[in-house]
Amino acid sequence: MTPIIELDHLDFGYQDLPVLNDVSFKIHAGDYVGIIGPNGGGKTTLLKLIMGFLKPTQGSIRVFGTSPNAACSQIAYVPQVVRFDRQFPISVLEVVLLGRLAQLPWYGRYREEDRHAACQALDKVGLLPLKDRAFGTLSGGQAQRTLIARALVSNPKLLLLDEPTASVDAQTQAEIYALLDQLQNEMTILMVTHDLNIAIEHVKRVICVQRQVILLTPQEVCEHFAMGLYHTPLINTISTRKV
Ligand SMILES: Nc1ncnc2c1ncn2[C@@H]1O[C@H](COP(=O)(O)OP(=O)(O)O)[C@@H](O)[C@H]1O
Ligand SMILES: [Mg+2]
Repeated sequence: MTPIIELDHLDFGYQDLPVLNDVSFKIHAGDYVGIIGPNGGGKTTLLKLIMGFLKPTQGSIRVFGTSPNAACSQIAYVPQVVRFDRQFPISVLEVVLLGRLAQLPWYGRYREEDRHAACQALDKVGLLPLKDRAFGTLSGGQAQRTLIARALVSNPKLLLLDEPTASVDAQTQAEIYALLDQLQNEMTILMVTHDLNIAIEHVKRVICVQRQVILLTPQEVCEHFAMGLYHTPLINTISTRKV
């Protein structure tokens, strides 16, 4: 079966700053992957390479067996921190509809099917009753779930999330994990996260990004956690494996 994501000896750097070095791994359909690593380790950069926003300096990356740009209609992205103007007059439903923009016909007006899809996505994240509320009046957790609905409305096969629980309370964090537990049956999920302890109870595999990249099972992360994950590079403490 063609992997959903395949990196082969990939290098990437910004101008003079090397960020990822000799990265090779494969992600298969149905995987639910937590991406961990220190700040500045290259996690967001890795997501941007998968989406085709950045190009490798060396090596290759294939998504759904093709180039990231050719695959982009199957990928949805929930970005790291979305700053929004709380006064900006846009409803929750309208925010979710933004996720349909790429699928609109040339005359660019939303159709009934777009509204239907937006309502379905809001229902999935439990926010349908709030669809007409002003987005700016939502709590942080509700806003984050709205942004997940915006990602879901294009029916992606691959969902990428960058620290979706970074600025939410414990209750919302639990809700987001419960939502992802459901979604993993419908799509492949990669999520950057800092809540390692909770993440390893949910995800199937863990990618550790620290210049190089390794794939671990949650059990292996537990075994190595005692070594001081981000201090002695995890990468060097276990034998380098290419999956
Ligand atoms: N657009 C950019 N231009 C130059 N350097 C960048 C840019 N984006 C990120 N970096 C640098 O690349 C490294 C990796 O960043 P990033 O992928 O955002 O890390 P993470 O998401 O793991 O915190 C950091 O040193 C960061 O400062
Ligand atoms: Mg980041």
